[in-house]
Amino acid sequence: MDSSEIRSRFLKFFEKRGHKIIPSSSLVPGDPTVLFTTAGMQQFKPYYTNPKDADKDFGSRNITTVQKCIRTGDIDEVGDATHLTFFEMLGNFSFGGYDRGDAITYAHDFITKELGLEISYVTFYKGEGVVPRDEESKGIWTSLGVKDIREDGKDVFWGPTGGSGPCGPTTEIYCKNADGQDVEIWNIVFNEYFCDGSREKLDKGEAKLKKLDVLGIDTGMGLERLLATAQKKKNVYETDLFNNEQAKDERIVADHIKAALFMISDGVIPANTGRGYILRRLIRRAVRFSKQSLVQEIEKIKKIYKGVYELNDKGEIEKEESKFRETLNKGLKEFEKNTDPFVLFTTYGFPIELTLELAKEKGKTIDLEDFNKKMAEHQKLSQTSSAGMFKGGMANHNEKTIRLHTAHHLLLAGLQSVVGSSVKQKGSNITEERLRLDFLFDRKLTDEEKKKVEDFVNEKIGQGLDVVRKEMPLEEAKKIGAEMEFGAKYPDIVSVYFIEDKDGKSVSKEFCGGPHVKSTKELGHFKIQKEEAVAKGIRRIKAVLI
Ligand code: SER
Repeated sequence: MDSSEIRSRFLKFFEKRGHKIIPSSSLVPGDPTVLFTTAGMQQFKPYYTNPKDADKDFGSRNITTVQKCIRTGDIDEVGDATHLTFFEMLGNFSFGGYDRGDAITYAHDFITKELGLEISYVTFYKGEGVVPRDEESKGIWTSLGVKDIREDGKDVFWGPTGGSGPCGPTTEIYCKNADGQDVEIWNIVFNEYFCDGSREKLDKGEAKLKKLDVLGIDTGMGLERLLATAQKKKNVYETDLFNNEQAKDERIVADHIKAALFMISDGVIPANTGRGYILRRLIRRAVRFSKQSLVQEIEKIKKIYKGVYELNDKGEIEKEESKFRETLNKGLKEFEKNTDPFVLFTTYGFPIELTLELAKEKGKTIDLEDFNKKMAEHQKLSQTSSAGMFKGGMANHNEKTIRLHTAHHLLLAGLQSVVGSSVKQKGSNITEERLRLDFLFDRKLTDEEKKKVEDFVNEKIGQGLDVVRKEMPLEEAKKIGAEMEFGAKYPDIVSVYFIEDKDGKSVSKEFCGGPHVKSTKELGHFKIQKEEAVAKGIRRIKAVLI
């Protein structure tokens, strides 16, 4: 039973039971609150609250997919038997189309009858707060003859993906791999609630659950894990989706380059911010662990997925590899003599994570506090030098550049509001005459979008909103989602500029050294002069205040 057979048997099994087959969505999600697609349910999030839309969009309330997913949370565990950065998730979804009994019975029958595998044990939710203990699931498993049924807590409650969303108790299926280890194979979520905050907030008791009108079903089964079990293998690398990598180094390279190849094929390019930065880190980490050029690895992966996915790295991996290999070699030599993470960062481009990882391997200690202190000084210096770009005066900032600087923050907020919060700042430059903002976005803005962005900024100017500076711990600033250069290192205490509307709703919050105007009413009228491409995936806007 190879991967192609399992994919098609899964889809057919659910098609026969009234499910519509829908293609995988891109790894770059439509949902701006998450960087990557991490679960099959992501493209279906809105249907749990608006099930009628599923009739319109799919002609069915029951759906099945094989979804490409990226998860970077478990990156340190990559190389063990089961954890991967890129994986495919088999899933069936329902927006009020069927109940717990159907969902559990389908899963049970697929595993035990269709694939002939044995279930080792299953779990159910023990209940907490407004969510009751899931006796119903327990009863269904019992009636299906499963003997080992275990109660569990938070691990079997699916929290919302992103900032808010459907969530609910889950029941999981575990099977034994060839080593006799129990592996979680399938997660069946009962989306009974809508959570108005993130998972983090929910766990802290800061978000509320509201019962949904209909029961939502969201299930996810990792193809690679299932395959390892079905093929009686000890780990995912021994399945036909890998090349039997044994050493941890080889496994990391195979995993990371596969993830990189899939990301690039879905339009991500290496960058210093956002998803491009995750991609860059994966490639760089692979370079570090690989003994040979990554080109061979790319070809091997393409061969595995031939006829299933169209994969093309557009030369990006090689480009990134050749840039980084040289720095890495120099940096590694330096590391033998000197482990100052600040020098490694500023001179050799070693991200702090890399230095920490190397230090752990070699049993060396790193003085993080000293690093943070030096970075804070460095930050101050570079703020002054970037402030040097502001022509005309300095104490050098003059009224005109200060006004444009505040308009710059509003422009970023406007772009995010009009085309999505995935827009991230890539660079900026301000003169007395105009501001310039470079940002990550992969297409030209339409005239309508430009107009909407101008209207957004002018509306905020018209409202005369206060611009407020606050100093706060870096962690706090990150938590509240202040705009920052993703991947850049910041000191422990940062300065953040806030603009809020009259109702106290956030309009803009950005890490910034300032200075800024006191009220947006000082800005005048905002106008975009030009919107153009600077490089692939990077756009530039020049704008003025008149
Ligand atoms: N959303 C759940 C998961 O990803 C089930 O699909 O595990």
